[in-house]
Amino acid sequence: MTIISAPGKAFLFGEYAVLEGHRGVVAAVDVRAFAWDVVALNDPGSGEEDPRHGWPECDPTAEVLAAISAANQWLAEQGDAPVTSRPALDSRRFAPGLRKLGFGSSAAVTVATVAWMLAARGYSATDDLTRRHVHRIAREAHRRAQGGGSGGDIAASTFGGLLSISGAEVRPLPSPPWLHMAFFDAGAPASTRSLLSEVQRGAAARPEAYAAAIEALGAAANLGHQGLNTADATRGFTAVRDACRTHGDGLAQLEALANLEICTPNIRRVMELASSLGLCAKPSGAGGGDILVAFATSRAALDKLSRRVWSELMVRPISDTEGLAEGVRAEDKSPVSSRISGLYRRPVRSRQRAVARMAGLDDEALRPEAHEPFGLEQAEHMIENVIGLMPLPVGVATNFTINGKDVLVPMCVEEASVVAAASNAAKMIRDGGGFIAHSDPPWMIAQIQLVCGPTATATAEEVQAKVLAHEAELLKIADEAHPRLIARGGGARALQVRVLASDTVVVHLLVDCQDAMGANLINTVAEVAAAPLEALTGWTPCLRILSNLSDARASHVSARIPPSALASRDWSGEIVVDRIVEASRFAELDPYRATTHNKGIMNGVDAVVLATGNDWRAMEASAHAYAVRGGRYRPLATWTRDSRGWLSGTMSLPTAIGVVGGATRSHPAARAALQVLGTPHAKQLGLVIACVGLASNLAALRALATEGIQRGHMGLHARSIAAAAGARGDEVPRLARKLIDSGEIKLERARALLATIRASLAP
Ligand code: MEV
Repeated sequence: MTIISAPGKAFLFGEYAVLEGHRGVVAAVDVRAFAWDVVALNDPGSGEEDPRHGWPECDPTAEVLAAISAANQWLAEQGDAPVTSRPALDSRRFAPGLRKLGFGSSAAVTVATVAWMLAARGYSATDDLTRRHVHRIAREAHRRAQGGGSGGDIAASTFGGLLSISGAEVRPLPSPPWLHMAFFDAGAPASTRSLLSEVQRGAAARPEAYAAAIEALGAAANLGHQGLNTADATRGFTAVRDACRTHGDGLAQLEALANLEICTPNIRRVMELASSLGLCAKPSGAGGGDILVAFATSRAALDKLSRRVWSELMVRPISDTEGLAEGVRAEDKSPVSSRISGLYRRPVRSRQRAVARMAGLDDEALRPEAHEPFGLEQAEHMIENVIGLMPLPVGVATNFTINGKDVLVPMCVEEASVVAAASNAAKMIRDGGGFIAHSDPPWMIAQIQLVCGPTATATAEEVQAKVLAHEAELLKIADEAHPRLIARGGGARALQVRVLASDTVVVHLLVDCQDAMGANLINTVAEVAAAPLEALTGWTPCLRILSNLSDARASHVSARIPPSALASRDWSGEIVVDRIVEASRFAELDPYRATTHNKGIMNGVDAVVLATGNDWRAMEASAHAYAVRGGRYRPLATWTRDSRGWLSGTMSLPTAIGVVGGATRSHPAARAALQVLGTPHAKQLGLVIACVGLASNLAALRALATEGIQRGHMGLHARSIAAAAGARGDEVPRLARKLIDSGEIKLERARALLATIRASLAP
């Protein structure tokens, strides 16, 4: 099977000016389009459906048709047979939540299609020569379909990395070692084309003013190019910052000329915040009010900016765009589709196979027999005084799409209906474009308690001032405790000092734990920093331990659902929206209700935390403390009706979880769960967990606000009682039905009814 992906692009410098012959600088970003051939995966005679049939069949766009024809023309010139089939295509990552981000999806799809066509005739998508052919063919196809354009998008999607473009010339730029970039979704997009045509109109009316604006934008591109070509961090960054300023001047001139707003208030504020933190930022691309790029010399500085920007403006950093992306390439897995219809009807064995195939795993990978055994011997090494094991069911939630990417979610839980409810709600959310999610950097807090001993002379305020004055030194001490963490991109990031009482001060060291949950790591930092703090302040260290209120490490998720997706036979979608909004208000007004509301969220959250071998007690402690952080216990997720009448839900949840260390790696079932999830980073796993929490809440509120929870619950409860009574196969639904009809869903009753069923069937 041939699977090809191509990245999107972001303009760094030279927007507008590149169309007038100036240089442009573009970066490839890791938001990818996929092209692959759909092969039938059915086991002949097994009656199983191809688990990938969930992919929507869509009509090919003009770009795809142009790409196919241009690629076939080139193949004919080489004497190769034409490719008559079309690839399956997925570019949904470019449009999380239905709104397309300006990362050049059509160029990425064009490049992926051309490379797939050439690969189908034996050309390797990754060798230099083929890439150059792909670039030329895709450029031509894109021009035919779209007319004009700078070609920067096709170049970035093909070659990846950082590129300088000038007319037809494309040159790779080595990425300077100091460069760190983040992209933000500033909202309110304007179509590139309409802005360009406004600008062209202004240019025709005032050609000199237009020439001056283009001159400034061209100068910015040269400065940016020079900065990005400089290995020295200070000089390189200074040039990039000057380039951002010059670009801003050029844009302001264009705005005046064309009488339009390119820099929205959000964009302007992000630029101000960036500059207040010693960074720089600018809008990216020629579409106003969409994407913003920020430049820094360290990841930590960008993380600080992202936190400020989110907390002040609710402008989110776009996940998966950190760093420069590789160009067009062959993949070993096609994108997952989380739509596996009828999964619940299949036998367990067939389900395991379908999920394994969808996750790109070996057919047998999810059978417990295929894991290393987990028995008493392994358990002996985990806890003390082992006397047994406690198996729990693991299910998989379907229909999840997060930031345009489908994911199958393993959930370990004993409560009936949790997996089905999350899957159903995810399906409704899918109709609104899926979840949009981003996370804070993975910062955990180490607490060092300092108490005023008999020999101490400094007051609490003096201790606070002294510690703050030695921030850099203390962060260095914390870093030295974990040199390997620094190599992985983590490390100490910030210091806070809180005066709790006249004789008690607490020092917080915030440490980026990367993919670890970080409990051990943070506890070491707390212990290592205690002695230097004592020497510095004369106060006595007491407790040295992480805080489980991981409020510096939250995942932020949102979803919007059209009323039609919420409607049922008895309830119109509009009424369901209103009633869910009322239910959310109830939770905001009443801590008694908020607690139950949050319990429903944790149904989903804990199930994923447990399935992946993470610490669910930490998760629970953190979630409830977060819920009460304003001094009153509140719902973690809230729902409103948006201006279009859609239901809109948001949630922020601390997600102190890891994908390395502890049971996440040592427990075979947790390892398998992480594989099903696509081996995510900790931040990505945090997003999945929060999305499942929001879905669980939606499912509960929809049921509660309409027919009530019992009807759905009873069916599943009856099935589990039927199974516990010894029913097997077809007996389970039959017995469940009888139990519901009898109005008494109890084990004794189930055993009696099972006996009558069996007796009635006996020959
Ligand atoms: C039951 O496990 C969870 C619910 O009570 C949550 C809620 O009331 O929102 C249904």
